[in-house]
Amino acid sequence: MDKIGIFDFGGQYCHLIARRIRDLGVYADIIYEPSDEYKGFILSGGPGDVYTDQAPKLPENFFLDVEVPVLGICYGHQMIAQAHGGEVKKGEEREYGKKIAELDSSSPLFFNLSKREQVWMSHFDQVAKLPDNFETIGKTNICPIAAYQNLEKNVFGVQFHPEVIHTPSGDRILENFIEITESKKEWKLEGWVESKIDQLRSEIKDKRVIMGTSGGVDSSVAAVLLSKADINAHFIYVDTGLMRSKETEEVSNIFKNLGIENFHVVEAEDEFLDNLIGIINPEEKRKIIGRKFIEIFEREAKKIGNFDYLGQGTIYPDRIESAQPSKHASIIKTHHNVGGLPEKMSLNLVEPLKELYKDEVRRIGKMLGLPEKFINRHPFPGPALAIRILGEVTKDRVKILRNADAIVTEIIEASGLYNQLWQIFPALITVKSVGVMGDKRTYDYMITIRAVESIDAMTADWSKLPYSVLEEISNQIINKVSGINRVLYDITSKPPGTIEYE
Ligand code: XMP
Repeated sequence: MDKIGIFDFGGQYCHLIARRIRDLGVYADIIYEPSDEYKGFILSGGPGDVYTDQAPKLPENFFLDVEVPVLGICYGHQMIAQAHGGEVKKGEEREYGKKIAELDSSSPLFFNLSKREQVWMSHFDQVAKLPDNFETIGKTNICPIAAYQNLEKNVFGVQFHPEVIHTPSGDRILENFIEITESKKEWKLEGWVESKIDQLRSEIKDKRVIMGTSGGVDSSVAAVLLSKADINAHFIYVDTGLMRSKETEEVSNIFKNLGIENFHVVEAEDEFLDNLIGIINPEEKRKIIGRKFIEIFEREAKKIGNFDYLGQGTIYPDRIESAQPSKHASIIKTHHNVGGLPEKMSLNLVEPLKELYKDEVRRIGKMLGLPEKFINRHPFPGPALAIRILGEVTKDRVKILRNADAIVTEIIEASGLYNQLWQIFPALITVKSVGVMGDKRTYDYMITIRAVESIDAMTADWSKLPYSVLEEISNQIINKVSGINRVLYDITSKPPGTIEYE
């Protein structure tokens, strides 16, 4: 299959470029080194200044070794110009947001575009002088070299971002680049399922697979694929007692309805809650839950039998982030996923979804018959409700939060706003305040409502939910959830806040 390689220079849009290229039908990888397997390369944007020592660099001799077409975007555009002897400098002013660019539509990169197009800009540095044999093919009032080409070398650069929706003709530009690379459009999810099932069957044959499923979309889709491949696979779902209302029941039913056998539910509420007694520190909570999970998983797996493979719901961005930790920001929270599992068991790994993005996993899930509502569920963290209880986790507190969570979800689903939000959930603040209900004084905990909009969870805006929806949430929680006498709305974006509280 023809592929395009996207160099990651730390830009937040790098994965977005890969997703756009895949949506256009060509498989794209995030890479750090060139390789012969790619029909073209895109150099992504990034936060660095090309002229500083710390700035991410291209591998040495890149342009001598590489013969396929190359497109630079933003930082990549500046990098290419510099590498060929051009000059990059701070512009007169920062250029940010929607701009009109004048484009040379005779360039193959801008084939089928208008002479004036809206583009999305986000830069201060810019190409001040072009290398020899390069020609300008786009400009804005602030950026005289907003796009260039060298047709002999098949090298192109754009200062703006074709991958974001604010560049309405961006897809056409990326499609033109695909044409330039002469890549065949062979990346189709429809065929992917059958070939993955065939591949799993031949890879695993009569070996045995054990897998933990959290009830999340990734692990569920991976489990369905494994079971469709008629492999001898067993799935362990640990009910930690920290799950949302009816969660275990719903997940069990979904698996049952899909005809998946060997789905083992382990009731472990007491074990988890006992281990969390007196624990307030968020990182400690996360580690305790992660460790306990592994312990139970290993114990239960042993009861079922011996296994050769460990199934995991790893998806593409998980791999990129864990393979290149130094290229990403420091770890802010210890993430616990059912996937991140037992090294001690020394099993081979099988990760059916490892080349897919989340939206691709959702589409596959739908093709495999998982209910739409389940597939479109908001993300839910591995340590579950424990990290939404700010303070010690107890059975009573989990119950309060679970009830509040069911109310919030029901109201937001009925409002039609669910799919517009990245996440909405209540968290329990275990600090008491005075209130009055009936004619009685109350002294109870508070619930805070977190509702955010985001594209990738790296940044998020708090959602400006209608007051009527907030009012309904507040009224119902106060009236129906005993132990709560106050509801707060969180108006912190990320950064500086994180989405979860702990
Ligand atoms: P933060 O709180 O870091 O969360 O802004 C970013 C996104 O990650 C989710 N999250 C987790 N997901 N295991 C997960 O699978 C975890 O331990 C975990 N912690 C946070 C969070 O819900 C948000 O979508």
